[in-house]
Amino acid sequence: MNVGIFGSGDVAQTLGAGFLAHGHHVCLGTRHPEKLAEWSATHHAKVGSFAEAAAFGEVLVLAVRGDAAEDVLKFAGDDAIAGKVIIDPSNPITAAPPEKGVLKFFTSLDDSLMERLQQTHPKARFVKAFNSVGSDRMVNPTYAQGPPTMFICGNDEAAKHVVAGVCDQFGWETLDCGTAEAARAIEPLCILWCIPGFLHDEWTHAFKVLHD
Ligand SMILES: NC(=O)c1ccc[n+]([C@@H]2O[C@H](COP(=O)([O-])OP(=O)(O)OC[C@H]3O[C@@H](n4cnc5c(N)ncnc54)[C@H](OP(=O)(O)O)[C@@H]3O)[C@@H](O)[C@H]2O)c1
Repeated sequence: MNVGIFGSGDVAQTLGAGFLAHGHHVCLGTRHPEKLAEWSATHHAKVGSFAEAAAFGEVLVLAVRGDAAEDVLKFAGDDAIAGKVIIDPSNPITAAPPEKGVLKFFTSLDDSLMERLQQTHPKARFVKAFNSVGSDRMVNPTYAQGPPTMFICGNDEAAKHVVAGVCDQFGWETLDCGTAEAARAIEPLCILWCIPGFLHDEWTHAFKVLHD
């Protein structure tokens, strides 16, 4: 697949390298392509603007700060994202510091960032994924207990099928939690995941659902 990744940070670079390792083609989108010149050269991947990454990708990834996501989609352009699968690892974290290890979100439990984005861009096919694990363990993590669980949701079944395929390739078992409303539960998993990090500097865990 051609994958357009919005972002220049750890998540964009890690998922970008993961897609490349699995034989896909990648273009990272950023306001500052020059800062990714070295990454682009060592990884043999394209780097461009948000609009260029949107045009390049048949599948897109929204690896940007939650509070910048709406702006980034505007830069990308509504026509360029219409009809495309958008993997959404972003989290609605505020600028306020965590309180006793607990991050603060700008959404409520009756709302989520992905639902807001889906509402503003009804033709795009958002799928929440990769938001509840640290970037270090996103691609083919190895745990003695077996593959960890990737919680996904979204309104488009075919889009979720594509993302489940990516999760499979990246070494995860997928738990489809239903429509976009489930992002109200999946996004706060980020808060839970970060607590051992902020309290005990433990950042290498992942969630796994156990079945009978
Ligand atoms: N880091 C992790 O381990 C991790 C794990 C799971 C989920 N997440 C989520 O994944 C997303 C990306 O995380 P990250 O740590 O890789 O990077 P980040 O520092 O949260 O975000 C970096 C990206 O946000 C863009 N950005 C920031 N402010 C902007 C603005 N005003 N307008 C347009 N773009 C703006 C930057 O664009 P430019 O390139 O143009 O500067 C950059 O590409 C976040 O939502 C985060 O919560 C992170």
